[in-house]
Amino acid sequence: MSRAKRKLDHINHALTTGQSRQNGFDDITFVHKSLPDTSVEDIDMSARIGELSTSSPIFINAMTGGGGEKTEQINEALSTAAAAFGMAIAVGSQMAAIRDKSEQPSYEVVRKVNPKGVIFANLGSEANADQAKRAIDMIEADAIQIHLNVIQELVMPEGDRDFKGALTRIEEIVRHAGVPVIVKETGFGMDWDTVLQLKNAGVSAIDIGGYGGTNFSKIENARRNRALHAFNGWGISSAISIAEGSNAARGEVCILGSGGIQDSLDAAKAIALGASAAGMAGILLSVFTEHGEEGLHEELRLLHEEFKWIMCALGTKTIKELQNAPLVISGASHHWLSERGFETSSYSRR
Ligand SMILES: Cc1cc2nc3c(=O)[nH]c(=O)nc-3n(C[C@H](O)[C@H](O)[C@H](O)COP(=O)(O)O)c2cc1C
Repeated sequence: MSRAKRKLDHINHALTTGQSRQNGFDDITFVHKSLPDTSVEDIDMSARIGELSTSSPIFINAMTGGGGEKTEQINEALSTAAAAFGMAIAVGSQMAAIRDKSEQPSYEVVRKVNPKGVIFANLGSEANADQAKRAIDMIEADAIQIHLNVIQELVMPEGDRDFKGALTRIEEIVRHAGVPVIVKETGFGMDWDTVLQLKNAGVSAIDIGGYGGTNFSKIENARRNRALHAFNGWGISSAISIAEGSNAARGEVCILGSGGIQDSLDAAKAIALGASAAGMAGILLSVFTEHGEEGLHEELRLLHEEFKWIMCALGTKTIKELQNAPLVISGASHHWLSERGFETSSYSRR
């Protein structure tokens, strides 16, 4: 099967399998403040993603390109919206265009409609430093995301079966990319140890890409003749991954929260758990597919407005303050973090 056909398959199956809502954010409750002493007017939502600054704390995560005209239209709409709301945006894996130049316009459009925006290139961890440079140059990217997708590859009928050497290739890309390197998961989360390995490799940011939203095991199963169920419920939720990741990062590397972020409250919880910004993918694709460009802009307008109200209610004027808002972790997330030796009261009594 061609990469272009596979890309279109992924879009269709992502829309039908949807979001599982097992992201762990329902286990997180903010501590309400009756005297926040804030005004919506004074809220500053500007965020930092490693060395880069954005005016929105929410970014559009990697999805597409490489599937001809349809993916070019999606990327054009997403990037136009990103520019309007000051959000960073990532393109989908550019390997398709590195292998076949005729696919370049479906990625290049992202920079064309958003000349001043923060844009991330994207390749898998099979890529080498030369391919990373080509992906960055293709869209004049401000940073490059390297995605980790072991589970997707295993369930994919034509997927990779050899995952050796990924960390060494990432280190090589960090040395030669010339722009910040962000390593991201694709919906199965990251543990403390993985975050430490990536931090030591010198990456600028780590997007834990947690379990609980778009599920690439289910998407690939929809493309298989004989289903492989082992990985459908596999992964570390986004909430837990951010908590583990930010404990490992200790403020020395930027943690990004994504995976199943469906609304402004999920995004605020991701940041309060320790992320510097929150990424959304599948939900925005489905809003655009169902309601077009106008619907996407309205969704993003409401998302940002509500995010401001949440910050106001918590008495937090900046993203840094939101990162320190008290919250209580309950249920399965509390059980997991306690079993793994993390001090959950450090979130509830700060
Ligand atoms: C249709 C579709 C295609 C995707 N393609 C890529 C990709 O090419 N590269 C990548 O790093 N992540 C890709 N992702 C994963 C997302 O960036 C994100 O990590 C994942 O969907 C979890 O976030 P969500 O629950 O908000 O969708 C894709 C997601 C979707 C829905």
